Amino acid sequence: MKHPQRQHAIWGHRGTFILAATGSAVGLGNIWKFPYVAGENGGGAFVLLYLLGIVLVGVPIMVAEVLMGRRARANPIGAVGAVSAESGRSPLWSAIGWCGVITAFLILSYYSVVAGWTLEYVKAAVTGQFAGQSGEQAGAVFSALLADPYRLVLWQSVFIAMTAIVLAFGVTRGLETTVRVLMPLLFVLLLVMLGYAVQVGDFGAAVRFLFSFNVSDLSWAKASVALGHSFFTLSLAMGAIMAYGSYMPKRASIGKTVFAVAGLDTLVALVAGLAIFPIVFATAGIEPGEGPGLMYISLPVAFGSMPAGVLFGSVFFVLVTLAAWSSTISLLEPLVAYINERFGLARPLATLAIAFAAWLLGLGTVLSFNVWEGQQWLLGRNFFGLLDFFTINVMLPLGGLLMAIFVGWRVLPRYSRLELRQEPAWMYNAWLWALRYLAPPAVLVIMIASIYAELAP
Ligand code: TRP
Repeated sequence: MKHPQRQHAIWGHRGTFILAATGSAVGLGNIWKFPYVAGENGGGAFVLLYLLGIVLVGVPIMVAEVLMGRRARANPIGAVGAVSAESGRSPLWSAIGWCGVITAFLILSYYSVVAGWTLEYVKAAVTGQFAGQSGEQAGAVFSALLADPYRLVLWQSVFIAMTAIVLAFGVTRGLETTVRVLMPLLFVLLLVMLGYAVQVGDFGAAVRFLFSFNVSDLSWAKASVALGHSFFTLSLAMGAIMAYGSYMPKRASIGKTVFAVAGLDTLVALVAGLAIFPIVFATAGIEPGEGPGLMYISLPVAFGSMPAGVLFGSVFFVLVTLAAWSSTISLLEPLVAYINERFGLARPLATLAIAFAAWLLGLGTVLSFNVWEGQQWLLGRNFFGLLDFFTINVMLPLGGLLMAIFVGWRVLPRYSRLELRQEPAWMYNAWLWALRYLAPPAVLVIMIASIYAELAP
């Protein structure tokens, strides 16, 4: 294929795609959301459904996304257009790229607000503020943070600035260098936390909670939540993985790489669960089904009452910050690459402009936790509620569905086979089959179920 941008960067090291894509995938979704969603949905049965979602639907779609990025060597919008043209299809398919890039920008605007909270908690942990906190006190501290728009804007600004700095330095000098330091550090910190949890927590209770289940616990509602979460946690359908794939060397095997990324992402989610639940179960008065406050309310209480809680509380919140940071980087990259390649705007300028726009939009999310909290914009939701619903429940599955249909049915197999030439024939066939017959109906089901669940009650 002829490449529209001759200047498109390529990663300098073989392993960088794995680190960068894992950095994108591992984020608040793994450490904050997965444990509490698993907790709310009763543990084991949910975990099983989530694993099935990753393997049967997430992995095939991720392969499709990397394949498009690498084939075209362009930003997501240019990439889908070029792949479509090569197979003689309509230019309208590049709408997939548009949807993804815009949704990534919308997610970035609120993700960086939530990620900012973890910076406040790093500060609180380091200065020993968790010591002796009761559940009520911890709850009050969290509510006070959300009620204070100035503090939220401060941390949101710091977080966006951290993200922008990395991308302003470019793909290899900024992004590649950062993930090569960040990801190993993140894995080490996670293992430290696991060791701590085994030492001071109730590890057996956590293992039973996460891995044992009754067949009667399985339900369609859980399947839809689990599948939706497996999309979010793998960073699918937003152009993020496609953008990273576009920097991938030709010789690397996409299949092996994607298995590594999905495997690491899943491992981190499970290990995060195994690091958090022992601490939760060992602390009186805290429930695993706590909900979104699990990380910001329950864990401070637990750290505040445990040996070396200041040290390990700090390690934990630094870990979450790093994980969220490598995810926001991947949410900003697709649009930066597009503006840079399409309009020739220098990378630092493009980064600055988009980071500023995301910051501005993020103010709406900041206000949604205080001044605008009770305001209903649509469907009984405030600004943040609406943005969250629209991106996660509508755009994410829609993007995945369109990608599966496009690469499964519209891209000529001889081109997809060429990008997957390192894979044995049976694997290619299994992939194509899953992309054609498994992914679209599965995604349709979650989409309809989650929209119905949101609109009906
Ligand atoms: N996967 C990340 C997490 O689990 C979030 C994320 C980063 C994301 N980039 C994305 C989600 C792109 C969807 C699309 O926290």
